[in-house]
Amino acid sequence: MHKVLLTGGLGFIGSHTAVELMEAGFDVVILDNLSNSSIEVLDGIEKISGKRPVFIQQDLEDYDSCFEALQQHKDLSGVIHFAASKAVGESVEFPIKYYNNNIGGLLNLLKLCREYSMFNFIFSSSCTVYGIPDVLPVTESTPTKKANSPYGATKQMAETILEDYSNATKDFHCIALRYFNPIGSHESAEIGELPLGVPANLMPFITQTAAGVRPKLKVFGNDYQTKDGTAIRDYIHVVDLAKAHVQALKKLQEEVLQTRYNFYNIGTGKGCSVMEVIDSFERTSGVTLAYEVTARRKGDVPAIFADTTLAKEVLDWEAQYDLDDMTRSAWNWQRKISNL
Ligand code: UD1
Repeated sequence: MHKVLLTGGLGFIGSHTAVELMEAGFDVVILDNLSNSSIEVLDGIEKISGKRPVFIQQDLEDYDSCFEALQQHKDLSGVIHFAASKAVGESVEFPIKYYNNNIGGLLNLLKLCREYSMFNFIFSSSCTVYGIPDVLPVTESTPTKKANSPYGATKQMAETILEDYSNATKDFHCIALRYFNPIGSHESAEIGELPLGVPANLMPFITQTAAGVRPKLKVFGNDYQTKDGTAIRDYIHVVDLAKAHVQALKKLQEEVLQTRYNFYNIGTGKGCSVMEVIDSFERTSGVTLAYEVTARRKGDVPAIFADTTLAKEVLDWEAQYDLDDMTRSAWNWQRKISNL
């Protein structure tokens, strides 16, 4: 049985990945500082899996404490690194927080990987590394562009660091997964997205508006050069995304990849507009959503979606769920946490 460390494992993507990993027979150790997650998520994971992952409350910025905590877990063979700050707007306001947490934390984690011989590494990257792409869909060979936020810059830098480290370190292998827009929740509604304060992302804003927590959704712009004028993204069900991590880890363990550093787009390959997400939500929930169209949000990319051929070929992974599955499950989760 392989034992895997999940940094940020109580977050939205981390918790769903913990469930899928345990279902696939892995042992899971979660390290999380609870800065943007709640300890109750462990109960949700346990309810679904019938098993409670080991939990370490630590901050990766505190190297010595993490080193100490991992003394109990010298048999870890791999790491999935989710722990990072992820609010684009906040990163513009507090760039140092982002560089400390996302880059400082990664550097400490790589030192821990060396100390504890954790040689299989999966990194949470993002489609944000492509900036505003010239051609759609984006493939892994689409050039990356200068990041338009410190958050995006940390994802690009982290990929560079991991590529350099992989090339320099015998036995160390890394896969960076470039996530598109993860939404939805586990079908049990035992775990889901738990944004702190006012959500910055579309899906939790929609479900909170429908639940009466927010008065109205703002649709940021309907004057883009797209089918209905609203911006296009590649929304992916978080359970599909979680499964991509399991596949990636298996491929690292099987040692079937030609290179020590690899990166893959993880999306559905289908671009959906903001209006299509709203329509799907209204259809699956039966709720009419209060919304208004406002000005574009600064820094938003007009349209991006993935070519996922490489992930399919190399990782044997492909998204299974469609947009209606995503909006339905997101609403089930919101109803549960809002007691509706
Ligand atoms: C961005 C990044 C993504 C990153 C994420 C972190 C890109 C292409 N994507 O996601 O890599 O991981 O931030 O948070 O850079 N919208 C509204 N009203 C709202 C909220 C959003 O209309 O209240 C619209 C946005 O304008 C956008 C779409 O919904 O067109 C999705 O927005 P959001 O969920 O915030 O994700 P991204 O900005 O695409």
